[in-house]
Amino acid sequence: MNSTDSADVKISNIAVLTSGGDAPGMNAAIRSVVRSAAFYKLNCFGVYRGYEGMIKGSILPLGPRSVNNIINKGGTILKSARSNEFRTKEGRKKAFANLHQKNIDALVVIGGDGSFTGGLIFQQEFGIPVIGIPGTIDNDIYGTSHTLGYDTAMNTVVEAVDKIRDTAISHNRLFFVEVMGRDAGHIALNSGIGAGAEEILIPEEDMGLDRLLESLKRSKKSGKLSSIVMVAEGDKIGKNVFELAEYIEENLPDYEVRVSVLGHMQRGGAPSCFDRVLASRMGLRAVEELRKGTSGYMVGIGDGKMILTPLEKAIKGKSKIDNELVRVSEIMRL
Ligand code: F6P
Repeated sequence: MNSTDSADVKISNIAVLTSGGDAPGMNAAIRSVVRSAAFYKLNCFGVYRGYEGMIKGSILPLGPRSVNNIINKGGTILKSARSNEFRTKEGRKKAFANLHQKNIDALVVIGGDGSFTGGLIFQQEFGIPVIGIPGTIDNDIYGTSHTLGYDTAMNTVVEAVDKIRDTAISHNRLFFVEVMGRDAGHIALNSGIGAGAEEILIPEEDMGLDRLLESLKRSKKSGKLSSIVMVAEGDKIGKNVFELAEYIEENLPDYEVRVSVLGHMQRGGAPSCFDRVLASRMGLRAVEELRKGTSGYMVGIGDGKMILTPLEKAIKGKSKIDNELVRVSEIMRL
């Protein structure tokens, strides 16, 4: 791996970008990078629209006053995009030429594993130091217990499901609620426990249709008149939420079934205090690491402390579901 830890690498101009799916807390991280850079008397540039903007040369200077009043805002002021051109060597050459023209000598990438993959290749090809900050609501990055946006998204989900529960109880209905998480069940599992869901279906565990049906029958027998089934987008049963609901409705006619897909509202909204503080800590640490000459690492949080993980590991490693939480969810459904 092309990572360095030497203490004598001099940098003067940092660029920051956001890439991949946006997440609450990205703005707070941008703010932190910009202000930390100013604190250390480094120039800071914002790259607009991720790697796509880097190729197009959409790079503007950012000072401490450019990031006023964004700590509380969802989305990303730098915008985000997916770039096919950056996947090509030609595209990356253009991107590097644009950075070079502005004397940018270090990069902070805020995003998920796809964004880190781009950053790592870029570092390997052009020798530019790169530090990653994990920003995705899915929490599916190895090397951090929390990604930016995850805590906010869970709170958004819990708030939404509390409301769904009100109407579910009023009509004695069974609700299937689909939450985000194409490859990871963190949102479903944690917000499922927090919202008191009876069943939680995640990509990491195959509950199986029959077990789901049996479990719902049991809870109906035990006196439950309404229920919430939390389904992660990529749940292992392999059926989409509407197919699941149809199957259960056919086989459990006592229940009136409804489906609610929470969708992209989970990605928006003001970041929670946790995400704002995390973003502020990560941004500062990213700048400090670049100053020290560190490259090819991601800043994460573990046991409440800032930790570093090689980008390669962060990309390849799998963030694991906490089995204790699975157990809690199973017992709480009684
Ligand atoms: O940000 C991650 C994520 O929310 C996934 O859970 C989801 O599958 C995906 O983004 C959808 O993103 P988009 O609609 O931008 O393609």
